[in-house]
Amino acid sequence: MGLEGRVALVTGGNRGIGGAISLALARDGADVGVHYHSNREGALEVAEAIRGQGRKGAMFQADVSQRDSVEEMVRQCREELGPVDILVCNARQLVKGRSFMEITWEEDYVPQIEVMLKGTFNCCQAVLPEMIERRWGRIINILTTVLGERRPRTNSYGTIKSGLLYFSQNLATEMGPHGITVNMVSPGLTATKRPILHSDDHTQDYIRKTPVGRLGTPEDAAEAVAYLASDGAEFVSGVNLAVSGGKVMF
Ligand SMILES: NC(=O)c1ccc[n+]([C@@H]2O[C@H](COP(=O)([O-])OP(=O)(O)OC[C@H]3O[C@@H](n4cnc5c(N)ncnc54)[C@H](OP(=O)(O)O)[C@@H]3O)[C@@H](O)[C@H]2O)c1
Repeated sequence: MGLEGRVALVTGGNRGIGGAISLALARDGADVGVHYHSNREGALEVAEAIRGQGRKGAMFQADVSQRDSVEEMVRQCREELGPVDILVCNARQLVKGRSFMEITWEEDYVPQIEVMLKGTFNCCQAVLPEMIERRWGRIINILTTVLGERRPRTNSYGTIKSGLLYFSQNLATEMGPHGITVNMVSPGLTATKRPILHSDDHTQDYIRKTPVGRLGTPEDAAEAVAYLASDGAEFVSGVNLAVSGGKVMF
């Protein structure tokens, strides 16, 4: 509890880890804008579940890589729910892992930069003026424990998420004086409804190397986000919280 009267906007809040984040923030009292890109059905389901918890749940379509599209989403959110207090940048462009000599800049880097890096940039710049004005804000960017694993076949994904680490910490420095915290949550390999892109052997090996002895769930990551969004986390900023059962310790 504790998020009553707050408005959250979760990018990619329509499914997977983002879906669980939307529900956890609503459970804790926030009204939640569920963003989706193409899967409207998923957003509808999550928004209905939020309303079932007695909170306002609205859904907004946007391509986060397009500034106009993001501005329009934030405008709609303000109109339906109010200005954004809590922004969770979770959307990503999924690209199958390939070794460095197989990837290309155009197929692997560009689409991920557009959605993850430019998308986060666009969303942050769109919500920050009102957070600064109201002297309260929470930005939580979703990274990955790949940053601590440096696994093969993650060159583009890991590099772009690493960029988001600096981005977030730099923003935390600049926004602290305005009452805004900026943090990161880094899930380990997480079992969502989408099939895991790794082989079964890889997954079993991953579990063996995880001290807690299982894969993550979307709810594991969502609980970390809910904490960072809460008033209790007022003095926590610039932190990258690994949620990986001890597999990665930053
Ligand atoms: N799953 C894991 O094992 C794992 C582990 C570590 C970190 N993470 C991170 O956790 C986050 C969520 O992962 P996930 O596996 O739950 O997500 P996912 O199933 O890959 O879903 C991706 C989300 O991004 C949205 N999206 C795609 N292109 C977009 C665009 N151009 N504009 C706006 N939104 C767009 C999708 O919307 P539509 O559904 O509408 O297309 C969807 O909601 C990601 O940042 C990921 O890097 C995941």
